[in-house]
Parts: sequence; C-alpha cells; structure tokens
Amino acid sequence: MKIIKSNKELEALNSKKLAFVPTMGNLHAGHLKLVSEAKKLEYEVIVSIFVNPLQFGKDEDFDSYPKTLKEDKLKLISKECDYLFLPKSKELLNGIHQETSRYNNFLCGIDRPEHFNGVASIIRKFLEIIKPNSIIMGEKDFQQTLVIKELIIKHNFKCKLITIPTARENSGLAMSSRNNYLTETERMQAAKIYSTLVDTKNLIFKNGFKRKDLKNKIIYLKKNNINVIYFDLFDAESLESINESPHLKGNFVLATAAKIGNTRLIDNIVFSI
Ligand code: PAF
Repeated sequence: MKIIKSNKELEALNSKKLAFVPTMGNLHAGHLKLVSEAKKLEYEVIVSIFVNPLQFGKDEDFDSYPKTLKEDKLKLISKECDYLFLPKSKELLNGIHQETSRYNNFLCGIDRPEHFNGVASIIRKFLEIIKPNSIIMGEKDFQQTLVIKELIIKHNFKCKLITIPTARENSGLAMSSRNNYLTETERMQAAKIYSTLVDTKNLIFKNGFKRKDLKNKIIYLKKNNINVIYFDLFDAESLESINESPHLKGNFVLATAAKIGNTRLIDNIVFSI
C-alpha cells in the first residue's frame, strides 16, 4: 500500500479505475467492507484518513476523535488497499470552497447545524484533487450519501456514487467508530436501536403508517435509556417527513439519531412500498 501525503503525489497517480473511500480513521469492519466491495468491482482503492474540522460543531468530539493510524494501516493492508491518502490539513483546507447542501437543515442537520455543509465542502475538495471514478460510502450515513449525490450532480463530477449496505455487529448494532465510546451495558442498550427500526418497519408494512406507533417506539427507546433526537419516517429523496397514511407508496427512509450517555449514534432502514 502506497502512502500519499500531498497533492503533488496524487497528481502522479495514474490509475484508470480508481475508487475513493473517504474516512476519518479508527477503521472498523464497516469501512473495510467498503474497500472489499471496491476491490470486487476491480477498482484500485484509495482510502483517505482525515478528521475534518469543518463538519464538527464546537461542543462535539473533534479533539477527542479516536486516532488509531497504526492499526488502520494494518487493516487496510490486509484488505489489499492500494493507496492511503493522509492529507496535511493546511494543504487540504487551503482555498477550500464553502458548500451549501439542500439537505443541511434536515434530520441530523437540526442538532448538527453546519455538519453537512462541512462534509460537502471537504468531499468536493477530495473529488477535485483525487479525481476518482467512484466514491464508495456506507448506507448508515444515508443523509450523507444524499449530500454527496447532490454535490456530484451540482459540479458535474465524473464520479459514480456507490453505496454499500450498513455493516452490523451480531446484535444488529450498526458499526461505527463512535461505538468505541460505549460501555458494555450501553452497547447492549444500543442494539435496541436497530431492532426497534425493524419492528417499526414491520408495523408500517402491516398496519400502514401511524404516528401513534412511532410515538410508542420512541417511548420504548427512552425507557431503555436511549435518548432519541429524532426517530421518524422520511421521503428517501427529499428527506421531508411523511404524513400518516394507511396506504403508503414510494421510497422511504426510517431514520434515527439517539444519544446513549454522551455517545451520539445514527441508524436507518431504507425501503420501498
Ligand atoms: O463519514 C465520514 O467519516 C465523514 O463524514 C467523511 C465522509 C469522511 C467526510 O469527512
């Protein structure tokens, strides 16, 4: 695996089929699945590790975000990753354009006000300098994938967005670097997030969409020490919240963000009906 640290070294890359996996490091099996899927599609893979200051609010975990570069490198080598991009903050952020996404003020954007604009800004810079043929992202960050889709269309990047289903622990808990903040008890509680999403989806298929059912699920999660920030059904393209209906039809995302202790977790299920 070749380590790249500057724009100059990137320019020297001569890959015909390059897939880009952006990360903030502290890699887990979910990230590695993105690398494996790209390899299956016969892409050369470039993974970036950069904790992007533009997407963190001032009371968030930017300073304490886990840094495990040594382990990350070994994991990437084991997946035959071709390139690891470790940009220098100064060079990457120099002259960066401030993006604004239409999705910035929805779902996770409500309690993380500049988060998605920060993600879009950094990914635009990455796409400009790396010039990948595809960008590979996990469905766990569903809202983020919409932001990137919008960005690609807006700037006409010749880059395909490939999304990969969420990697889960045996308990169903979506893999996330932030799971490392959880105690054993909290980890067990956190598994209820996914099982509740599944139960709610099943209820919608059986009974239609009733706001009362959602409310009951939120009460259940709260009783289990899961502090729900939002838990709702949204249109999978516009992210508008859906009205109650006995006969839903369309593409939807049932999505949640919740805090267990100080740890903020997200998860979702995408479905068509
Ligand atoms: O999902 C993440 O880890 C980050 O939002 C990303 C895509 C690497 C941008 O900083």
